[in-house]
Amino acid sequence: MRQYSLIAPAKINLYLEIIGDRPDGFHELAMVLQSIDLADKIDIKAIGIETIVVRCDHPEVPADSGNLAYRAAALLSKQFPDVFARYGGVEITIHKRIPVAAGLAGGSSNAAAVLVGLDMLWQLGLTRSQLQELGARLGSDIPFCIAGGTSLGTGRGEKLSPLQDLEDLYAILAKYRNLSVSTPWAYNTYRQQFGDSYASDLDNLESRRQRVHSGPIVSAIAHRDKEKIGQLLHNDLEKVVLPEYPQVQKLREAFAAENVLGAMMSGSGPTVFALTESRERAEEVASAVRGKMADTNLDFWIAKFNPSGITLA
Ligand code: C5P
Repeated sequence: MRQYSLIAPAKINLYLEIIGDRPDGFHELAMVLQSIDLADKIDIKAIGIETIVVRCDHPEVPADSGNLAYRAAALLSKQFPDVFARYGGVEITIHKRIPVAAGLAGGSSNAAAVLVGLDMLWQLGLTRSQLQELGARLGSDIPFCIAGGTSLGTGRGEKLSPLQDLEDLYAILAKYRNLSVSTPWAYNTYRQQFGDSYASDLDNLESRRQRVHSGPIVSAIAHRDKEKIGQLLHNDLEKVVLPEYPQVQKLREAFAAENVLGAMMSGSGPTVFALTESRERAEEVASAVRGKMADTNLDFWIAKFNPSGITLA
C-alpha cells in the first residue's frame, strides 16, 4: 500500500490533578483521559522525493516543524533513515474537524496518527508501546492518543493504565472561536500560584499517585456510574484559566445550570464540555446554552465517547 487514511479522535480530560514538579521541568500529573468521536482524518501517502509535506485545510495549522504531525514524521525518518530513503518521503494531509489550541489534544492526535500510519506505510513493524515511547518524546498526550479509550494517565501523562470503556456517554463541547489558551502559560501560572502545595518528596508523590489510582473517579468508572463520574469531574487547571478568562467561566456556569451529569473545562482549555446520557439530551443542552450565551463566536459540537484511539478510516 502507498497510502493510508486514519481517524484521529480528540480527547477530553475527565480528571486532571497536578501533583508536583518533575526534574524534567514538566508536572507530575494524575489524569483520566477519554477519547471522543470528534475526529480529524489524516491521509498519509508515499511520495517520490525524500521530503515531508504537510497540508491542512485549516488556516491556523502550520505546515512546517511547528506542526506535531510534521515532527512525528521527522522523528521516524531520523530513526529509520534507510526506510525513509527507500520509500522516498511522505505527504500528510490533515482534514481538520477538532478545534485548534482547544485543550482537546488535536495536534497530539494528528501526530499519533502519523506514527501509526508511517509504521504501516514503511512496514516498520513497531509495537504499540514502541510507537507510544516515540510519541512521548514529542508530547505528553501522544501515547494516550495512540491507544485511546478511557485511561488513567500518570507521570507526564504518558504512563497509561487502561480503564473500563465508557459507553453511551455524550459530551457537548463549546469553544469561543477567537480564544485559545497557551498550555505552558497555564501550567507555569499554576506553579506560581500553587507550587507551595506540590508534593515535595518521592514518598509523598507516590502516595498522591496511589490515591488517584484507588480513588473515587476510577471506582465510578469501574462501576460505570455515570452520575458519579459527572459529579467527580475535576481539573486543577480551571483554578488559573477560569479567573483569567471570565467568558470561559460563564460558559461553564451556563452548562452546569442545565440538567447535565457534570460540566468542566478540558485540559488547559478553553473548551468547556458537559456530559449527558443521550444524544437527544446533548442536543437540547447545546441549543439551550447557545440561546443563553447568544454569541456568534461560540462553536458547539456533540461527540460520543469513543472506545479507541487511532484507527484506519
Ligand atoms: O507535552 P506537551 O507538549 O503537551 O506539553 C505542553 C506544555 O505543557 C509543556 O511545555 C509544559 O509547560 C506543560 N506540561 C507540564 N507537565 C505535563 C504536561 C505538560 O508542565 N505533564
